Amino acid sequence: MSRHGGDVHGWALTTGVRRENIIDFSASINPLGTPREVLRTIRARLHDVEHYPDPDSTELRTRLSAAFDLDPSVILCGNGCTELIYLLPRALPLRKVLIVRPTFNEYERACATASPGCAVASYPLRARNDFELDPVAVLHEAASVGADAVFLCNPNNPTGRVVERDIMEEAATLAADRKIYLVIDESFIEFTTTASAVGLTRGNPYLIVLRSMTKFYALPGLRLGWGVFPARVARALNAIREPWSVNTLAQAAGVAALSLTAHRERTHVFLSREKQRLERGLQTLGIDYTISRTNYYLLRSRHCPQILRGLRDQNILVRDCSNFKGLDKNYIRVAVRKKRDNDILLQRMASLLTNP
Ligand SMILES: Cc1ncc(COP(=O)(O)O)c(C=O)c1O
Repeated sequence: MSRHGGDVHGWALTTGVRRENIIDFSASINPLGTPREVLRTIRARLHDVEHYPDPDSTELRTRLSAAFDLDPSVILCGNGCTELIYLLPRALPLRKVLIVRPTFNEYERACATASPGCAVASYPLRARNDFELDPVAVLHEAASVGADAVFLCNPNNPTGRVVERDIMEEAATLAADRKIYLVIDESFIEFTTTASAVGLTRGNPYLIVLRSMTKFYALPGLRLGWGVFPARVARALNAIREPWSVNTLAQAAGVAALSLTAHRERTHVFLSREKQRLERGLQTLGIDYTISRTNYYLLRSRHCPQILRGLRDQNILVRDCSNFKGLDKNYIRVAVRKKRDNDILLQRMASLLTNP
């Protein structure tokens, strides 16, 4: 059922290739890997799995509330940000949402599969504007089509484009004026230098900010996300969510991750060097890419289908973007990985383009 990148298990099963011989550019995970301190914490807490987890993730929420200066009651943790995305249309409930495209597919699926059902309207981003996102225009459109919620992704997946906080603030104020929920998914925000909208939630009864800890701290297999909700929405979510969805090791890993001091700086220094090299390489190959402020690039070329197949034959996975609404087979997304892997990607792409 993979609709996403990162399916190394599936590829290993299909081909019989060992997982460690697959290079995965299709999931956008921190190339520096899981921080040592976080791994150490997980190992030290293994014996705790004989007990049920704290159903309220109390320690982690207390740490998040201190870090972001928020009341702990408005923070909820989830089994990945995905759990919170799926809970929202069920808890509110929503009648009609407006979703930009292309963006992360799960907002639409969560809304379409919620019960009672929720209609989905689309707001297309334009390739000719490099998929620039104007959240204020999206909010005006939401008001005119009678939507009661808007999902935005910042930075957007798969484009890597960001909206700066002052513009998001304008959109958040408009959302409150029009009584439209504005849901901002900041799952990749820590890879950018853009300020988070978390602080804007204070006093705004219509702003929701979702965060993931699986990307920046390289924990997708453990699953951990959190979000900040208006008090009334937090109560509605608490009323329907399952107990124990965030396991003990994920909670401990989250607390350990929040104590890290140098990880962000190290990641940014590393990314800025590798991104420059990747961009130079893509320019040499004549492949178009969006202006990415994060750890992945959306590539656009009529050669994408052949690049995708050719790389896959060499056990190099990139994200086929043809199932993103608003994109087609001429787009692929690649994560920024370590230097050696990025070099391999550029070399193999070069040879696929010269010997199709
Ligand atoms: C924009 C976006 N939000 C949320 C998620 C899911 O995050 P998590 O692993 O925390 O469930 C993804 C995963 O790719 C994503 O791209």
